[in-house]
Amino acid sequence: MIPVKSPAELEKMRRACQITAAALKEGGEAVKPGVTTAQLDRVVHNAIVSMGAKPACLGYCGFPAATCISVNDEVVHGIPGSRTLQTGDIVSLDLCAEYDGFVGDSAATFAVGEISPEAQRLLKVTREALVRGIAAAQAGARIGDISFAVQSYTEQQGFAVIRDYTGHGIGREMHESPDVPNYGKPGHGPRLVPGMTICIEPMIAEKSWAVRILSDGWTAKTRDGGMAAHFEHTVAITAKGPVILTKP
Ligand code: MF3
Ligand code: CO
Repeated sequence: MIPVKSPAELEKMRRACQITAAALKEGGEAVKPGVTTAQLDRVVHNAIVSMGAKPACLGYCGFPAATCISVNDEVVHGIPGSRTLQTGDIVSLDLCAEYDGFVGDSAATFAVGEISPEAQRLLKVTREALVRGIAAAQAGARIGDISFAVQSYTEQQGFAVIRDYTGHGIGREMHESPDVPNYGKPGHGPRLVPGMTICIEPMIAEKSWAVRILSDGWTAKTRDGGMAAHFEHTVAITAKGPVILTKP
């Protein structure tokens, strides 16, 4: 069963998502050479708490921080710590805020100082893949239409779509039905209905999509050491088209 939210529930979702977006913006603004990933997590954590919300990643399945922070060849679920960011790195921040019983979820990859042209292109393509996935999230369309929009564009650009992680429904829980893969066929999968709220989150690798999990039990890295980027929005399906709830 895919939960459908009432207008009142969507309004609560919107608040949780606006807090999420503001916290991500603050975290992104704190990205600079010399900062540690633990310091970035602190910025995000404080932002979420100061807006009266709860950092929903903290403690989720035992995750030890408010923010998943993944650097360079780390794809998702990196654990913040003493690593110092350096000029040329790319860093993904992925976070969830819970407010009034609902959860928002958003991610973005940021440049640390000046980055290589290839890294710039990876960020641009991943951002655009998200835009295209969202544009496909029309009432009456299917999940596979989103998946296909992301995959076809990404592969045309010569990058690879991570297979081991997907987007997801979201609402009272961080992860609800349905899965929202970043690869798939148009016309396949569950049909989109007004009131559904989903996270669309392309995770895109520079070279190949195979990943492995580090011994910390969380951090997913590309096997070939290529860089990876991640952009995510929480989106409401409406009769008038997709609404980006985590748009700042
Ligand atoms: N925000 C992530 C997602 O997109 C969830 C991170 S896993 C957690 O689903 F353990 F950190 F919460
Ligand atoms: Co998500």
